[in-house]
Amino acid sequence: MNVVLTGFMGVGKSTIGKLLSEKLGFGFCDTDEEIEKNSNMSIPEIFEKYGETKFREIETKVIKEISLKQNCVISCGGGVVKSDENMNYLKTKGKIINLYATVEKILSNIGDDQGRPLIKGKSKQEIKQLMEEREQFYKNADLRIDVTYLTKEEIVNQIEDFIRNGEKYD
Ligand code: S3P
Repeated sequence: MNVVLTGFMGVGKSTIGKLLSEKLGFGFCDTDEEIEKNSNMSIPEIFEKYGETKFREIETKVIKEISLKQNCVISCGGGVVKSDENMNYLKTKGKIINLYATVEKILSNIGDDQGRPLIKGKSKQEIKQLMEEREQFYKNADLRIDVTYLTKEEIVNQIEDFIRNGEKYD
């Protein structure tokens, strides 16, 4: 079984994913890292040179391969959820865990990191709007966790409990 982490940019999927994979004794895989390895370019470079459509094509190809893995925590780029094809691949062996937080928390996590073309130079209001547009996709998950006020350990424990015992917290 795989554990698939979805959520908006900057919510902490990669950090949590790595910690969770250690706790579960699972492998770890990050779709953005695989895309960069596959194309030999950084994410901003792919967007700049080939645009978002091409990026999404590579993303789907990478997800199709990653979905075949066994016992792996898969941290997904924030836009992966927009494609039914992506989610169908990921769901065949994976439980979908969505992490979410307030826009303030997302902005504080992102800081001045410029590596995300879709929100680079965007105002708080614009980012909030993009988050709201994505909500219809993020809500389709086996488990959702509001991580705004939780520590990394608490988040990891909640996911672990769900994976091992099917337990959900309120
Ligand atoms: C994107 C999120 C990014 C990366 C790309 C597009 C999105 O990943 O895949 O910049 O559409 O939300 P992170 O969520 O890991 O930042």
